[in-house]
Amino acid sequence: MQRLKDKGVKILSIESSCDETAAAITVDGREILSNVIYSQIDLHAIYGGVVPEIASRAHIEKINPVIKKALNDSGCALADMDAIAVTVGPGLVGALLVGVSAAKALSYATGIPLVPVHHIEGHICSNFVEDPALKPPFLSLVMSGGHTHLVMVKDYGEYDILGRTRDDAVGEAYDKVARAIGLGYPGGPKIEKAARLGDPEKLTFPHPKFNDESRYDFSFSGLKSAVLNYINGAKMKGEEIEQEVIAACFQKTVVDILTDRVDAAISEFKSERLCLAGGVASNGAIRSAISGLCEKRGVRFTCPAPVLCTDNAVMIGAAGYHEYRKGRFADLSLNAYPTLGLGDRSEIPYV
Ligand code: KG4
Ligand code: ZN
Repeated sequence: MQRLKDKGVKILSIESSCDETAAAITVDGREILSNVIYSQIDLHAIYGGVVPEIASRAHIEKINPVIKKALNDSGCALADMDAIAVTVGPGLVGALLVGVSAAKALSYATGIPLVPVHHIEGHICSNFVEDPALKPPFLSLVMSGGHTHLVMVKDYGEYDILGRTRDDAVGEAYDKVARAIGLGYPGGPKIEKAARLGDPEKLTFPHPKFNDESRYDFSFSGLKSAVLNYINGAKMKGEEIEQEVIAACFQKTVVDILTDRVDAAISEFKSERLCLAGGVASNGAIRSAISGLCEKRGVRFTCPAPVLCTDNAVMIGAAGYHEYRKGRFADLSLNAYPTLGLGDRSEIPYV
């Protein structure tokens, strides 16, 4: 750790877009000096999902202690930082504003450059930490609570979105199905656990079909509705709801939909490398299905460690490093951009 203190680009990164308050110190966007995550899951669990107002208040309470701990754990001082990177979107506006305000205040007080980062870009870049030798181009399947994107990463910070969800994100489908079968929030890990005990072949749920040529788009709301219809039908007939079976069959359908799109993209783009990203990428069944597919197709597979799949600030430092290298610093009129598109920098006030 001491060795790294004196060399490389050191970034303090801050993430507060949803229900994790996080700060990290990274070196050259690939090495972790500290990684502090305060999860608000317990605060939201009783409501069955994230309550934006509660999230913002909790971020305000935790942001300073989390940043302080990240600096302490790293053995660095704030003055050692070369940049302060912060998630500016997409996400909950009140939650984002807490991180953005903290980053602006620190930048104003110290004169350290302020680097705005896109949250999904952060998820993709967590793979640079997982594999320090990774370089673009590569394909990335990004799966979070709000996004499902199949992306070609052409270069650092340059993306072609090949496909995206037309309705619910895959994480959202996990959360909604979990609620419907009484597993509660957060749904992803609970469905994964229940699915291990159920027969995935017992029920058949539908795959989405599109009438146009969008080979790489996703849709998960039809699958979610099919699960809800099945549950309602079973209840009306007085049949028992088997949580584990529904979880296993739902997850099998998700895995089939995801692998179908990834397989097609590997073939068309002759990609040699595929990286998973986002909270849903911490799912063991999805990881092993896609890594198995990659092995069969001779494609190198990377997936961040589970703690770097779900929201964290290391990934913001990883993405922020490449923005730093391009000199993309913002002035103090920087805002939160709740619906910011991947690769869209048009609204960011660069210096
Ligand atoms: O990336 P993330 O932490 O936050 C967003 O940017 O949205 O993703 C959160 C999503 C939630 O929908 C959560 O249920 C899902 O990731 N998730 C999982 C697992 N762990 C988290 N989904 C499936 N299996 C998991 N093990
Ligand atoms: Zn996320």
